[in-house]
Amino acid sequence: MVQNRLKRRVKELRELIEKYSYEYNVLDNSSVSDALYDSLFSELKQIESEYPELITSDSPTQRVGSSLLDGFQKATHKTRMLSLNDVFNYDDVIDWVKRMDKLLPNIKHEFFTDIKMDGLACSLIYQDGVFSQAITRGDGFIGEDVTENVRTIRNVPLKLREVNGYEYFLNGRTEIRGEIVILKKDFEELNRKRVLAGEVEFANPRNLAAGSIRQLDPSVVSSRPLSFRGYDLLRDNPDEISTWMFAYQSISLLGLARNEEADVFNNLNGVINYIKKWDKLRNDLSFNTDGLVVKVNDRHQFFELGVVGKQPRAAVAYKYAAEQATTVVRDIVISLGRTGAATPVAVFDPVVVAGSTVKHASLHNADEIERKDIRIGDTVVVFKAGDIIPQVDSVVTDLRPNNSTKYDFEIELVKQFPDLEFERPEGEVVYRAKGLTSVVLLKRSIQHFASKGALDIDTLGEKNVEALVDGGLVHDLADIYNLSFDQVIELDRFADISTKKLIHAIQDSKSPKLSRFLFGLGIRHVGSQTAIDLSNRFGSIKSLAEATIDQLRAVDGIGEIVTESIIAWFSDPDNEALIEKFESLGVRPYFEKSSGRLTNTSFVITGSLKTMSRDEAADKIRELGGIFQTAIAKDTTYLVIGEKVGKSKIEKAQSYGTEIIDEDRLIKILKS
Ligand code: IVH
Repeated sequence: MVQNRLKRRVKELRELIEKYSYEYNVLDNSSVSDALYDSLFSELKQIESEYPELITSDSPTQRVGSSLLDGFQKATHKTRMLSLNDVFNYDDVIDWVKRMDKLLPNIKHEFFTDIKMDGLACSLIYQDGVFSQAITRGDGFIGEDVTENVRTIRNVPLKLREVNGYEYFLNGRTEIRGEIVILKKDFEELNRKRVLAGEVEFANPRNLAAGSIRQLDPSVVSSRPLSFRGYDLLRDNPDEISTWMFAYQSISLLGLARNEEADVFNNLNGVINYIKKWDKLRNDLSFNTDGLVVKVNDRHQFFELGVVGKQPRAAVAYKYAAEQATTVVRDIVISLGRTGAATPVAVFDPVVVAGSTVKHASLHNADEIERKDIRIGDTVVVFKAGDIIPQVDSVVTDLRPNNSTKYDFEIELVKQFPDLEFERPEGEVVYRAKGLTSVVLLKRSIQHFASKGALDIDTLGEKNVEALVDGGLVHDLADIYNLSFDQVIELDRFADISTKKLIHAIQDSKSPKLSRFLFGLGIRHVGSQTAIDLSNRFGSIKSLAEATIDQLRAVDGIGEIVTESIIAWFSDPDNEALIEKFESLGVRPYFEKSSGRLTNTSFVITGSLKTMSRDEAADKIRELGGIFQTAIAKDTTYLVIGEKVGKSKIEKAQSYGTEIIDEDRLIKILKS
């Protein structure tokens, strides 16, 4: 039901964004932080870019500018004010250039780069060198005439400067487009004064700039420290401005401010280095930025490349990775660490934060869940602590589902670990499994790892494990592969032959079958059959570790508890480290793809079949090397439709491009 869930999500996001946007733009009184607003907005944009069929013309993402206040005259832009396509990484930039190269082959581009200012776009018109009009962006075609307000901005000259060689800009119409911003230092100064005067501080420079320029009283505007910085220059005859760099130089010479950081490069390497440089230095700029702008420097080429939608093909906005993002908590699982401590972990719909995908975050302990009141189904703001470890910042309670309930850690402990008893020692926040110290857990896990159904290391029985752990030679599962003859022979239990035998047996186990290795890891509720199913479905530890809740649940025979347990296991950093350690010690589980005719072909059956039971069909599919799934995933090959069919499955199959077939066709596939 991904489709329906997404539709609902999109609707919720739009409603909330509209609400916040109204508070921000019309009431000038935001109830939430900019960062939260931006996170919700980018979540919506992300979904829409993946599922363009969900875009509607009234989506906030389709809107340029914002709703108009009464009180300003509308004014038409002589040429449309465009926006820019966003890109998020170097590959996007490279792809952008490739697309242009296809349209303009054999032309070497020079690239113009600049910092993208986080303010509000405005166009200034000079007639015969005299400031005559200022128009906000509005919808790109029509904006608001804010001439009188812009006139109060002290760095907007009322007359253009006359400079040798540039006199022609003082004849006829010269339009200078740019961004109205409030410099960081001016903003801080203003807030300091407000605090002293006992007034409420302004939230951020962008809000304040936008709110100020649309004040109806120019004297209020004049009390706000607005600045204008140009980024475009337009003349009736476009040939007068050959490059973007020329436009920038002219803007300066005519007496207006612009970013001095702008630069030109004759290759992509230069652009990438510029991006890297400003990623480090952007916080030191005098104004706030939300990225960079990269354009084809030659304006003739720029215009020739044309416009798609509202965006010119020859320019992109490079957005630095958001440092926080919103996502939905799909589940809260409990991970039993190697000391027996139970740690709750929130599992999310994957989301990119500060440049990498985040799927889960530790919630630390029951008190923390209680304090932040984090519930399954909640939308949360996620950030990276110290830029590495994902953390949940807060819950967007406005998006909380109606039927949500508080998370009860103790009840969940019983559900996930029915055979264990937990205690929470006085004054501690952590629940621990009774009787399970790290030593006991370690011994058990090694014995299990070495047992018949797992890696089958016969010399590694109970007594030997005791000796190795108590002798301080093994601190985690992978350590057995570190054992040396000299170390082991030191222990009382071992003599020359027994030591050799042990070390040999261990070294011989370095290429286990994936399913046995998986079983051997001792993930709760992953028995040997489940390990086989998982290994057939995912084919490697890496893809299993990356599996989402939906992918796991789609594996036949895997229910909620097993899924939670697998997710919890892989979300424990100790286990991540353990897997890496196995790898570095040369332990290479192998997976032999069953080489049947239906290898890599997966089936979901919905409704009942006439000629066979589901189990029979499943067996037959597996026999031929195919994969039988209980729910449709993105990679499902066939959806087999029986009688009394669920509509949601069909919709989902259609959205994933899964082929829909009937029973006759299935029989043919199985027989052919
Ligand atoms: S160039 C045709 N340069 O970002 C290209 N835009 O998302 C015109 N902006 O509409 C835009 N700083 O309001 C350009 N250095 C900069 C900018 C900049 C901020 C804004 C501008 C533009 C929007 C695009």
